[in-house]
Amino acid sequence: MPVPTCLRNANLASSELAHATTLPSSFYIDASLHQWELRELFSTSWQLLGLTSELQAKGDYVARNLPFAPVLAVRGVDELRGFYNVCRHRAGPVALGHGNCQLLRCRYHGWVYTLDGRLQHAPELGEIADFDPDQVRLEALQLCQADGLVFARARDVPGFRPEITRVMSEVASQVGEQALQCRYHSSASYEIGCNWKVYVDNYLEGYHIPQVHPALAQMLDYREYETRLYDGFSLQHSDIRDGSGAYQQGEAFYYYLFPNMMLNILPGRLQTNVVVPLAADRCRVDFHYYYDNIDEADFIAADQALGDDVQKEDVAICEHVQRGLQSGVYDAGRLSEAREAGVHHWQELYRRVCRETLAGV
Ligand code: FES
Ligand SMILES: [Fe+2]
Repeated sequence: MPVPTCLRNANLASSELAHATTLPSSFYIDASLHQWELRELFSTSWQLLGLTSELQAKGDYVARNLPFAPVLAVRGVDELRGFYNVCRHRAGPVALGHGNCQLLRCRYHGWVYTLDGRLQHAPELGEIADFDPDQVRLEALQLCQADGLVFARARDVPGFRPEITRVMSEVASQVGEQALQCRYHSSASYEIGCNWKVYVDNYLEGYHIPQVHPALAQMLDYREYETRLYDGFSLQHSDIRDGSGAYQQGEAFYYYLFPNMMLNILPGRLQTNVVVPLAADRCRVDFHYYYDNIDEADFIAADQALGDDVQKEDVAICEHVQRGLQSGVYDAGRLSEAREAGVHHWQELYRRVCRETLAGV
């Protein structure tokens, strides 16, 4: 695949935060870079599919639209298996969302597959030439389980990325092991008119909270808001100061895992976000909510209402930023050492992947 011009012309060298500039605006608007990222970044990296806590019983399944393809994980008789969620008939989905089933039934024309991916029944198909139903299988997908999380990937890359295991041990030691044993409650998706990297940049700093998120600013202790950097991931941490709010006292942990995954942990709840690139100027963010106690309806309603407000505020500011990046009058900016270390850290990871991939071309 040809190297996009904006990558070829960019300065991809590493730099200290005090000297750094942001990624150039061309990286947020170039359609050929979007295609390059899908192939070089998202088809080779492990992508968060779900929690093992939602895949415990035989027939439990989770279907998600990951950046590289629609996929599913399902607990069979013996083990957890991954498949592309693509029916062999005419590419319909064999599962939707989250649930439990004894057979996978395509939602288009009803072909039925066993939990190990074999075609069991194709209604009304009859005898057709050169077609042996016993040979038909869903395409298998590689899964990996790491301390309560399930990841999938499209193409073979060497080994399991060690930072995925490290992030989980950080969660266990900083938050507690119960954080990843929450039960699935619901999901919400937001389409945003911005490049996926605008959303990641925005996620990785609390600098904008006082301006953009008035309700969140009331809840978090902005003075104590801090960013901790690790190899391949980062954590933003804040105490919760609003004792009258839904969360009472406690701490907020916002883990980011390169390139596009987030774990947002507040007392009693875990929220995962996966950012899915759709085009150079469009992405979707998929939120999945998990709770210690899924019967606490008032707490869950308050938590999701705040989450929805914050998300709409982020959507609006990210879409403004995308228009600014496309304006022709902006190339790159400078970063606050006190407040934007997380942005610099992830952009350095991104530059490193670009350098390494280009070196292999
Ligand atoms: S696409 Fe699955 S049954 Fe037709
Ligand atoms: Fe925000």
